[in-house]
Amino acid sequence: MPATTAAWIAARDAAADRFATANPESAAQLAHAAEILPGGNTRSVLYYPPFPLVMASGMGARLCDLDGHEYRDFLGEFTAGIYGHSHPVLADALHGAIKGGMNLSSQTRGEAELARIITDRFPFFQSLRFTNSGTEANIMALIAARHFTGRSRVMVFSGAYHGGPLSFGGGASATNLPFDFIYGRYNDTVATLTTLDASDAPVAAILVEGMLGAGGCIPGDPAFLSELQQWAHANGALFILDEVMTSRLHPHGLQSALGLSPDLTVMGKYLGGGMPIGVFGGRADIMARFDPRVAGAVPHAGTFNNNVMTMQAGAVGLTQVFTEEACQSLNAQGERLRARLNTVCTARGAPAHYTGIGSIMNLQCQPPHVTRPEQVARENAEMKDMVFFGLIERGFYTARRGLIALNLCLSEGDCDDLVAAFDDILAEMAHLWA
Ligand SMILES: Cc1ncc(COP(=O)(O)O)c(C=O)c1O
Repeated sequence: MPATTAAWIAARDAAADRFATANPESAAQLAHAAEILPGGNTRSVLYYPPFPLVMASGMGARLCDLDGHEYRDFLGEFTAGIYGHSHPVLADALHGAIKGGMNLSSQTRGEAELARIITDRFPFFQSLRFTNSGTEANIMALIAARHFTGRSRVMVFSGAYHGGPLSFGGGASATNLPFDFIYGRYNDTVATLTTLDASDAPVAAILVEGMLGAGGCIPGDPAFLSELQQWAHANGALFILDEVMTSRLHPHGLQSALGLSPDLTVMGKYLGGGMPIGVFGGRADIMARFDPRVAGAVPHAGTFNNNVMTMQAGAVGLTQVFTEEACQSLNAQGERLRARLNTVCTARGAPAHYTGIGSIMNLQCQPPHVTRPEQVARENAEMKDMVFFGLIERGFYTARRGLIALNLCLSEGDCDDLVAAFDDILAEMAHLWA
């Protein structure tokens, strides 16, 4: 007979207690940090109860925490850490940038060089600009759309994430920027087009992810995304694709695989070679609005928009390390891993599965298949916690919410070991659903 909710909670609490006992230095560090940072935290996603692990160092595919435990890193900085830790080629580029002089208070060759490398790889960028984060890049893309169309309304999707103040996991939120948003239903074409057609103000832009990333790695239905693009183009709105997480899933971005042609695209994460970055761009006629040589240009400032470390590490990363071949091979490795994890779920009769594309995936603690974000809320949260704590105990670092993002330093053997650990965890908790 399946376990009661109380039994699941008791099992999860026991796992959390074991975690707390094994990690006293992380607990002490959080208490120390909390004296000056609210909750000891400066990045919300990193907190989880009873306290988050505090890492001390990383090398290649491995991390080491304050209590001396070593982990295989299957989180990869929430998809930004594609290069693993302290990759020697990137480390050399960064040392070179530092030696050449930082903070030059000027334009440098670096930004044009990285922009050229990015447009060679992602030719849909006719023109682009850099920011310090994906969040900022999304904000600037929305500002560009509002200026270009002269409209203010923006469609976003419940369950989507475009940055801290553009976070729609719970639908509308007081912590979001005060844009004039309307909300579509991800992967529900009829409901979304009905909302768009019923809008009582003209729509400036539709902003959407090709796969809901933070929303649980739910791939976008290609027909749904294409309908959105068509509606935008038929109605004078811009179609903006947020590829901050997904650009790594195909050598030329997920949009190439999906056959989409957005007016604007937003990227970030690994493109800075481990340094902070955001990129927005696309159609040259839209981006021309930012040309400061033209009277009335839209301003776009940022002290660190062209910082030399990001520009150099980003250039070297994309040309020498995350090449098109490396991209294909990493995503093939991810496809194999996800299939194997799902085979384990089936073999154990577990009410769980992994969703995702290529090298990025997320555990769903409910029977297959989650295709819409509202389904995620129905999952067995205790089971997800237990998988997370179980992986930590066995030396594998993933996100508490179940995200796995491969990095280039992980070997096939590391993936074998993760599959074996996951199988062991499910075997241990199988009595709860048997
Ligand atoms: C799809 C998407 N857009 C935007 C962002 C925000 O990027 P950043 O954290 O660099 O601000 C993220 C971050 O995870 C993301 O996944």
